Amino acid sequence: MHSMLKTVLLALVASVVLLMAVLHSWPTRAYSTIDVRQRPGSGVERLLEERLPDPDPSAISIPYRVKENIAGLLARNSCVCEGERPGVNLPFAKLLFPRVSAHPLHTAFQPSQLDEMKRRRAKEYQGFQMRSQTPADLLIVAEANSPLQYPTQGVEVRPLKTTLIPGLGLKDLLRDVYTLNFSASLGTFNVAAEVEGVKVRGDGEMHMMLSSFLLPNLNRQPNSSPTQTHCSIPALLIQLETEGHQALFTIKIRHGVTPKLYNTGPEGEKEYNISALVTIATKTFLRYNKLQDLIDSIRLYYPTVTIVIADDSENPRVVSGPYIEHYIMPFGKGWFAGRNLAVSQVTTKYMLWVDDDFIFTANTKLEKLVDVLEKTTLDLVGGAVREATGYTSTYRQTISIEAGEEDGDCLHMRRGFHHIIQGFPNCVVTDGVINFFLARTDKFFIDGLGSLHVGSCDDVIVNHATKIKLPWGQSESDKAYAKFRYPLASSDATRTKNGLLYFKNRFQCLTHN
Ligand SMILES: *[C@@H]1O[C@H](CO)[C@@H](O)[C@H](O)[C@H]1NC(C)=O
Ligand SMILES: *[C@@H]1O[C@H](CO)[C@@H](O)[C@H](O)[C@H]1NC(C)=O
Repeated sequence: MHSMLKTVLLALVASVVLLMAVLHSWPTRAYSTIDVRQRPGSGVERLLEERLPDPDPSAISIPYRVKENIAGLLARNSCVCEGERPGVNLPFAKLLFPRVSAHPLHTAFQPSQLDEMKRRRAKEYQGFQMRSQTPADLLIVAEANSPLQYPTQGVEVRPLKTTLIPGLGLKDLLRDVYTLNFSASLGTFNVAAEVEGVKVRGDGEMHMMLSSFLLPNLNRQPNSSPTQTHCSIPALLIQLETEGHQALFTIKIRHGVTPKLYNTGPEGEKEYNISALVTIATKTFLRYNKLQDLIDSIRLYYPTVTIVIADDSENPRVVSGPYIEHYIMPFGKGWFAGRNLAVSQVTTKYMLWVDDDFIFTANTKLEKLVDVLEKTTLDLVGGAVREATGYTSTYRQTISIEAGEEDGDCLHMRRGFHHIIQGFPNCVVTDGVINFFLARTDKFFIDGLGSLHVGSCDDVIVNHATKIKLPWGQSESDKAYAKFRYPLASSDATRTKNGLLYFKNRFQCLTHN
């Protein structure tokens, strides 16, 4: 009892002291100012260039022959978009022999605006490069026969925290005095332990020097040397030096990855519980009868799955029912805004995107798409859409981007896919899919071009409500819809899209087939 009282008293005293210490240091806490411009600076670049090995002079006379076909595969930073000449003009030729067509994107702007656009784009691009390039992108060549030992990758530190740098050392060297110099532009070094016979200079600073007459003692020291970051830049460039040798390596700075886990409900017997795993999302605009057909068809197969509807109609009507969420948006906000709004309301692990004029059938087996995402590392998997004519399409596309100079990069889209997915003979890995897909909710972002890992399966099929209709068979809402949805190529909508590709994504042109 007595000792317990003592402990409590001690704890009380300790916390009062701590509180006073905190209060004392509070107003005087110094905030240092640091330069967070991301470019490592010309000094470092020069240093790196100097470190690139000079070509061996004796190698100059050794003959070699360039293989044109392989050299041609290397990026040359001077892309062009070339279309194919039109072939024979047969009916259905476009469907049977898809031709590659090329489209310049600068035509989205008036000739009088274009120079100004180019200038503004170049300025924004420069800023983007400053922000996005980190020391971890630098070319670093490891010297041969260097006595320096250091970690080449895999060391990570949390922003403003401290970590040990494992694997540091100096090997196979005969010297009177052994030294190791550390420098980092936005970090500091400390020794975590004092080792006998090792002199430390610059402890707690951006440059630290260790020296010793005894190599084993020196090698005992660095493995207990942590580094601390000054800020949350993406990577820290560390320079390690001993007499006559120099090494550079990077340490990643980042917060730990916070997992996003979804409660998938109680363990089912064999089948997936689609209601617990999937939310169906769609965007509607004026087509309430089509939307109702879609909802009715979904309910035949999935009575309790949640349906999220983003609606940007001018005079929205009420859409209600069990497990339906209807969100009304400002008039005519468009497809991307609608999709983003719908996705933001999804709380299940997966989101299925459908157009409002699709119809579920017995072939619309969402379990198959869930199975693919559960068992692979794909982020998104598309299905197939069957037209009223019976024609079924997956609209698989591969996307490649070639680097260009000031004019911008070239975007190439082609029908096709990369390879078949093992264990799923009906599914392939590709880059683009049709407007009917299941995606991991947390991975789904609108600007995910190229960063998503995409699949496509042709055995999960949704029907498309009749699209090809005679003009006199169209309802009033169909006509109004057609005006917004199928703008002519020369219209404002195409111009806006091309303008975005040109300015926002810095493409100069697009080819597709
Ligand atoms: C290490 O740093 C010290 C102090 O900055 C400097 O005098 C010395 O030349 C450096 N040694 C090497 C090998 O770079
Ligand atoms: C499936 O999940 C839903 C929603 O979480 C739940 O209400 C339902 O009871 C589950 N069904 C089964 C068979 O577990």
